[in-house]
Amino acid sequence: MDPQEKKVALRSLQYGLQILTSIDGEELAAAGVNWLSQASFEPPLVMISVKSDNDSHAVIKRSGVLAINVLAEDQLEIAKAFFRTTVVDGATLNGYRYEPAPETGCPLIVEAPYWFEARVTDTIERGDHTVFVAEVVGAGVRDESRTPLLLRATGMNYGG
Ligand SMILES: Cc1cc2nc3c(=O)[nH]c(=O)nc-3n(C[C@H](O)[C@H](O)[C@H](O)COP(=O)(O)O)c2cc1C
Repeated sequence: MDPQEKKVALRSLQYGLQILTSIDGEELAAAGVNWLSQASFEPPLVMISVKSDNDSHAVIKRSGVLAINVLAEDQLEIAKAFFRTTVVDGATLNGYRYEPAPETGCPLIVEAPYWFEARVTDTIERGDHTVFVAEVVGAGVRDESRTPLLLRATGMNYGG
């Protein structure tokens, strides 16, 4: 396999760019992620791939809960605040206000137009990331008029 062609072919996949969050007791975690997809209608499952040495990985493994905050196309600045270690300051997470999700307590970024929360059903630890399969147990739409942020539009890459 030609490594350059592998990289370019894998980077041709289309992604959104979202904020993953989790909670374990007092500990909150958050990360900007694109390796995410729906995986089943019934039950409603999603799958998300999280780097094994990320803080959010450890928190999700312990608590088995996660939430996804879908950003709008003009909210790249929010995404950029979550490509680093999580800092909680009062009612803000990396500088953005949050509230607890109703079923799991995972932090929801209040500016994100769409969100869902989920409970982990399966964990596949392989390679440098772990795939969490999780059942969606809560969801919300704050502003259906907003177009979701796409990774390609940002000029950034995570893949290859
Ligand atoms: C464009 C972009 C996409 C990313 N996508 C993912 C992803 O899908 N999964 C992942 O584990 N990390 C991804 N990351 C890396 C995390 O955002 C980053 O490691 C973050 O600091 C993790 O925070 P944590 O250690 O508090 O969990 C991505 C980074 C960038 C710049």
